Amino acid sequence: MKDLSNVRFSLRRCELREWRKDDERSLQAHADNPNVACWLRDQFPQPYTLDDARIWLARNLDVPKQSQFAIVIDGEAAGGIGLYFQSDIFRRSAEIGYWLGEKHWGRGVMTEAVVQVTRFGFERYGFAHIFAGVFEGNTASVRVLEKAGYQLEGRLRKHVTKRGVTMDDLIYGTTAPLQGAAAGAANADIP
Ligand SMILES: CC(C)(COP(=O)(O)OP(=O)(O)OC[C@H]1O[C@@H](n2cnc3c(N)ncnc32)[C@H](O)[C@@H]1OP(=O)(O)O)[C@@H](O)C(=O)NCCC(=O)NCCS
Repeated sequence: MKDLSNVRFSLRRCELREWRKDDERSLQAHADNPNVACWLRDQFPQPYTLDDARIWLARNLDVPKQSQFAIVIDGEAAGGIGLYFQSDIFRRSAEIGYWLGEKHWGRGVMTEAVVQVTRFGFERYGFAHIFAGVFEGNTASVRVLEKAGYQLEGRLRKHVTKRGVTMDDLIYGTTAPLQGAAAGAANADIP
């Protein structure tokens, strides 16, 4: 059944909200940047045209389960963050993906967004595990994940080929906080 209750988060440095049809111009302007695209899968277009923005928005408007958020700064959609549901035996895991317009880098925006969306994934969908794949050399993204409490779980060697270069993929992950009695037991002092 369709879940109509979109959530929004007002954070210190940005707002996270659902994507809207009228985000197309700001999305295109911030996403059309090789310095952003070079750290993302090839499905993130480069150059990023208005048509690409429309395709993304069409796919993410009116979806049955909220998983994608626009990152809004000064009233503009300046980036995106979302959870990608896995299936079959991986159904209690989600991949997190994110990007931000370059002019806003280095101010802690993505760290607070990752913290919030991770919490949302655990609380809203009951995921046991949330992970990200980071291309070797993406120091900023590694730092974001570490600050948000993720840990290095593995290195898939020569797993990524981007712009003609084959490189390692670093898997960072975090697991759901223990709930209820289990949390109490885990936190109890050991005599
Ligand atoms: C990765 C990205 C999302 C970071 O967003 P952001 O809002 O700038 O991140 P934050 O400001 O929260 O944190 C960035 C951290 O990385 C650090 N950093 C940035 N560039 C760095 C570099 N080249 N070397 C070392 N540290 C670096 C910053 O100093 C900061 O850490 P600090 O708070 O300890 O000083 C943004 O750079 C981006 O969109 N990159 C392109 C797309 C991308 O890589 N997406 C993730 C794919 S896994």
